[in-house]
Amino acid sequence: MFSKSELADLLRLRGTDQADLFAQASIERDNRLGPFAVLRGVVEVTNVCRVDCEYCPMRRSNLRMNDRFTLEADSIVAQAQEVVASGINVIFLQGGETPAVMVHVEEAIRRLRAEFQDTVEILLNLGSLGPDRYQRLRAAGADSYILKHETGDPALHLRTRRETLDDRLSELEALKSEGFSVGTGIISSLPGQTFESIVDDLILMHELDVDMCSVSPFIPAPNTPLSECPQGDVDLALNAMSILRLMNPGILLPSVSALEKIRPGGQVQGFNAGANVMTINFSSKTTRDRYLIYGKNRYVVSGDHAFNSLTEAGLTPRGSLLVGSDLD
Ligand code: 5AD
Repeated sequence: MFSKSELADLLRLRGTDQADLFAQASIERDNRLGPFAVLRGVVEVTNVCRVDCEYCPMRRSNLRMNDRFTLEADSIVAQAQEVVASGINVIFLQGGETPAVMVHVEEAIRRLRAEFQDTVEILLNLGSLGPDRYQRLRAAGADSYILKHETGDPALHLRTRRETLDDRLSELEALKSEGFSVGTGIISSLPGQTFESIVDDLILMHELDVDMCSVSPFIPAPNTPLSECPQGDVDLALNAMSILRLMNPGILLPSVSALEKIRPGGQVQGFNAGANVMTINFSSKTTRDRYLIYGKNRYVVSGDHAFNSLTEAGLTPRGSLLVGSDLD
C-alpha cells in the first residue's frame, strides 16, 4: 500500500510520469479482469430530491423551479426492457433522493426480476433511504447499490451536502448488511476540498472495501451556489482513478461522463487510466431533458459514443460481473 506522501506524489504526476501511472493501472486492470469494460444502461427515475447539495441543480432549493417527474413502474420497466434488448445486462436505476419513488421502483424491480431471472444485474443509485427501504429493495430483487460519499472531509461534507459524513457512511454499511454489492465515490476538485482530503478519500475508499468506486471531476452547474466556481482538474481525477485501480485491482471503476463534459475524449482517457465501466443513457428524451444533473448541457452518453470510446481504448464490452453465467 501507499503512504500518504506517496499518494500525494502520485496525484501530482503529469507528462510521461503520468502516462506511466496510467499504463500501470491499465495493466493491473487487464491482469485482474481482462481488457473488458462493463456496460450499464441507466434509466433516470425521478428528478425530485430532498437533499440540498450545493453542486447539484436538482437540489431541494430548486424543487419549485424545476419541472418535476417521477416515473411509474410501467415506464421504468419499459425503459429497462430497452436496456436489455440492446444487449446490456446491467439495469441501472438512478434518481434523486425521495421516498416517493420507492413504490414505483420496488414494483419495477420485482417485475424485471421475474422477467429476466438471473440474467441481469439490477443496480440502484437512489440516495440514502434507510435500512427498511434497502431491505425492501433487496427483497424485490435488486443486487447492487451506489451511494457515494462525495467527500470524506467531514466539515466540507456537511457544508456542501447539508448532511453529515457519518450518516452517509452508516447508510453504506446498512446497504452492505442487506447483502448489496456496494459502491462509493467522490467528486474531485470540489470547491473547498484540500489536496490532503483527496489523499484521505483514496485511503477511505480502500478501507470501505466496496465493489465499485468512482471519481468525478467537479462541474460548476447552473442554478447552484457553486455555479461560478472553477471546473475540476481532469488530470487530478484521472490520477485518482489510476491510484484507485492500483489500490483495489478488482473494482468496477467507471469512466464518468463528467470527464467528457470537461474534456472531449476524457472518457477514453479514463479507460486508459484504468477504468472498466461505462454507463449509457436510456432515459426517454422528455425525462432526460429534465434530469438536470450538471444543468441542461450535460454530456449524455449514447451507445455509439460508448462503442467508439471502448474501441479507441482497446477494450471489449462485457456484461455484469455479478451475473454468474457471464463469467464462464
Ligand atoms: N460535478 C461533478 N460531479 C457531480 N455529481 C453530481 N453533481 C456533480 C457536479 N456538479 C456526481 C456525484 C453524484 C453523481 C450522480 O454525480 O458524485 O453522486
